[in-house]
Amino acid sequence: MKLIKNICCIGAGYVGGPTMAVIAKNNPHINVTIVDINADRIAAWNDEDLSKLPIYEPGLADIVKETRGKNLFFSTDIDTAIDTSEMIFISVNTPTKTYGKGKGMAADLKYIELCARNIADVAKTDKIVVEKSTLPVRTAEAIKSILHNTGNHVKFDILSNPEFLAEGTAVEDLLSPDRVLIGGESEEAIESLANIYRSWVSPEKILKTNLWSSELSKLTANAFLAQRISSINAISELCELTEANINEVAKAIGMDSRIGSKFLKASVGFGGSCFQKDILNLVYIARSYNLHAVADYWEQVIIMNDHQKRRFSDRLIKTLYNTVSGKKIGFLGWAFKKDTNDTRESAAIYVADHLVSEQAHIAVYDPKVSAVKVQTDLNYLNSRSEEDNLKHVVTATNPYDALKDAHAVAIMTEWDEFKTYDWHKIYTHMKKPAFIFDGRNILDKHTMETIGFEYYAIGQ
Ligand code: NAD
Ligand code: UGA
Repeated sequence: MKLIKNICCIGAGYVGGPTMAVIAKNNPHINVTIVDINADRIAAWNDEDLSKLPIYEPGLADIVKETRGKNLFFSTDIDTAIDTSEMIFISVNTPTKTYGKGKGMAADLKYIELCARNIADVAKTDKIVVEKSTLPVRTAEAIKSILHNTGNHVKFDILSNPEFLAEGTAVEDLLSPDRVLIGGESEEAIESLANIYRSWVSPEKILKTNLWSSELSKLTANAFLAQRISSINAISELCELTEANINEVAKAIGMDSRIGSKFLKASVGFGGSCFQKDILNLVYIARSYNLHAVADYWEQVIIMNDHQKRRFSDRLIKTLYNTVSGKKIGFLGWAFKKDTNDTRESAAIYVADHLVSEQAHIAVYDPKVSAVKVQTDLNYLNSRSEEDNLKHVVTATNPYDALKDAHAVAIMTEWDEFKTYDWHKIYTHMKKPAFIFDGRNILDKHTMETIGFEYYAIGQ
């Protein structure tokens, strides 16, 4: 087993940053350098003021404070970090392709290929290259081909080590993972990586597989998790018509130990950078092997999720007497889940876009999302001009301003603080009848109705 003294991680994002910080914390004898082409992001990681880190994750700032400048470094000098490291993690983004073959379905691997070429160009000594990004099954083959054709006689071992952290609980997930998965061909390289994790993860949680099982397990894990949400959301629609209550149904089925209680929270629809992209990718891979029944099966998870988001805005419009034109709707939350500043694929974006198409005026309050981000997210959809988005969607710096004179509140993210607001005061300052559409089922129906609200939740 090769002892690793220097690690380089390419990609200082939601995975690269927290993952490497936790590796550095638990391996003080290893120097960890995270590099990125985005100089602003690296500058933010190096900011003296820890509240300016580019990623908000509970507990992350403390670990960065403890390790940064000691054995954790952030840099834009990618070549030097590759050159001086024995192990290189690739943790760059793998978004859904927006062009060419596989557009809207396949994963765009151009960033991965650029990393492989960068490593191939720079490496002068043997390297272990670790796929940390989520990749289609058999991507390691392409990476191997690029690396092994450099002609510079450097030996490359490729490992797949997918990340299972969830945003908002990244540090917790990294410190106590359910498992660490390492796929590879070289037992020696696998051991070198396993040894790093053994600094804080018990050996029985470190699972070793072949490369392809590891790559496919990551896509499959996300597909299974998302499938549970679409399943419970499908039942939530039936609940709304039958007086069954989705919270009660979820509890009742979750107590069956074969089903389990996690990931059964009905919602306005799942968001985040990965579920949709990874399932689309799985569907694309299945179709490319002519497995159409398999592809159709998984595609339905996405179709159901789109339906759930649309259903939420349709219900809001219908309840507000079939028109939201000129009406103010206060949004609580914009992030795709609580405890993160990430908004990628957040249901809030799609619901807002639909309501603005119906000429609603939206005022957003999210504890961690900036006004600029809200506009960027809306503009990305290309539904109307940037000026029109600015005219129709404003961002408030406190919740009470966002909800003042609103016809309805839409709860889009399950931030804990929303439950503690002065809902009497909010009611007083809203237009009547005052409606709440709780897309996260976080408020108590009876309490809200007692205050005077007309309260609508998912599956109730
Ligand atoms: P991200 O967009 O937050 O970060 C990726 C970073 O890579 C960016 O800062 C980008 O500038 C940088 N980058 C891109 N190409 C580069 C290059 N050639 N050289 C140097 N830097 C480059 O993405 P993320 O959310 O951290 O996701 C990374 C990967 O991890 C994806 O494959 C994703 O599917 C997977 N993943 C994400 C999560 C999550 O919760 N976000 C969890 C598990 C796995
Ligand atoms: C998810 C997986 O949980 C991670 O294991 C995985 O590593 C990661 O994707 C990834 O590959 O990127 P993440 O998207 O960060 O993590 O967050 P989740 O907690 O899974 O939530 C995803 C979405 O589903 C959120 O919008 C959340 O609000 C929603 N959700 C989650 C529900 O609507 N109901 C639930 O019961 C659980």
